[in-house]
This record gives sequence, structure tokens and C-alpha cells, in this order.
Amino acid sequence: MRRKLAAGNWKMNGDAASLDMLDALAEGHPGGLVDLLICPPFTLLGAAATRADASLIAIGGQDCHAAPSGAHTGDISAAMLKDAGARAVILGHSERRSDHGETNDMVRAKAHAAIGAGLTAIICVGESLAEREAGATLEVIGAQLAASLPDGATGGNTVVAYEPCWAIGTGLTPSTGQIGEVHDFIRMQLEQRLGEETGGAVRLLYGGSVKGANAAEIFAVRNVDGALVGGASLKAEDFSAIVKALE
Ligand code: G3P
Repeated sequence: MRRKLAAGNWKMNGDAASLDMLDALAEGHPGGLVDLLICPPFTLLGAAATRADASLIAIGGQDCHAAPSGAHTGDISAAMLKDAGARAVILGHSERRSDHGETNDMVRAKAHAAIGAGLTAIICVGESLAEREAGATLEVIGAQLAASLPDGATGGNTVVAYEPCWAIGTGLTPSTGQIGEVHDFIRMQLEQRLGEETGGAVRLLYGGSVKGANAAEIFAVRNVDGALVGGASLKAEDFSAIVKALE
């Protein structure tokens, strides 16, 4: 039985006052088989980890460097994230791929660094609108997954997030049938690569315009174990409505 996961990606948003919402989220934590993860910007990570009750809310980073340390101005290593209190890190988000030219190989190297530092790697994959319209969605997802997934991936150290680029921040979402098709495909790929038991234990998140109003129908789709949420993770009431749909 895979635990459910609601993960919030604050992207380049938030200030010290934003951390107040961690208290509200902790108060409304549904317990049971639901995990909560908040990934604030690096500037807030340490304060967030100190503020959040670790038994109720995990804190994560939004990226890390593949190297353990060294001359990489402006970058953060996986060990630094861990040291600041993070338990997970989002890797290969489409905004990192498009804004910073991250390739599958880079994502995979970062994932190895993350897992080596004891973090859970959340590997993001997703097709562009042009790729979907060309009927290439599964081919694109399959190639991204094959090349981005770290060696030694398990249900404990790896999560896969399916985020169609065209659904991120647009208010558009794929149909539940389209989400199900991709999630079933990812599950099959994971089971083929990692074996049925390990591949079956990796949690699969859907991301892209998830909100309280559509969360329940998305979570009812087979092989959807939760969500990676952007805009709707910035306010306690919006994120709580999504968490509620996971209960
Ligand atoms: O990583 C989460 C994300 O890209 C989805 O963003 O704002 O569409 O929920 P949003």
C-alpha cells in the first residue's frame, strides 16, 4: 500500500511570513497514510525545517547540484539541503529543464547525489503541448524516465511526478483518462526496470493546475498517489483543500 503524498512547490515565491501556513497545515494534517511535503525557495528552507513539525510536514528543496561541494557559485549541494533539514528534493522540473537547460543526464546525476545524501528524489517528467498534439506523449515520457531515473531507485528514495508542461500554471489539465494512461505507462516502465515489487512501491504524483476543485477526481485515477502542486500550495486554505481530497 503506497502512502499518499501532497507536495507543494513554492517555486520562486514566499517570504518569512509565508511560513505561517506551516502551522495551519500541521493543524489540519489528516494523519493516516497521507504525507505532506513543502518545497520553499532555498532562502526559507532552514527556517521552514525549524518551524515545521517534522512528524507532520517534511521540507524539501527545488533543485540541487550533482557535485558534493566545490566551485559552483550560486548552487546548493544535496548534502547542504540535508544539513538544512530537507528530506526531499524536486529534480528535473520542466522550469529547470527549460530555464536552465537541464538534460535527462543532469537530472539523473542530481538524483544520484540526492539519494546519496539521504534525500528522496522527486523526478519530474512531462510532455509539451506540441508533443502531445503530435501523439508523442508516451514516447517522450518513456525517454525522460529511462534517462532521468537514478540507479537504485526504490519506493523509499524516489518519487516520480508527471507534469505535462502545458498544464503547469495554465488552469488546463489533461482528462482523467489521459492522466491514467500516462500514470499506468510510468508504472509499467518502473516495474519493468526495477521489478514488480520495487517498481510498484514508487509513488507517482500528478502535477499541473491541481486545485481543491479538481483534486478528488484526479486522485481517483489509478496509479495517482498524490500531487505536486504549484500555485495552490501558496495558501494554506488552497493546499488544505487538496490534502483533504487525499484523505
Ligand atoms: O511543480 C508544480 C507545478 O509545476 C504545477 O504548478 O501552479 O500548475 O500547480 P501549478
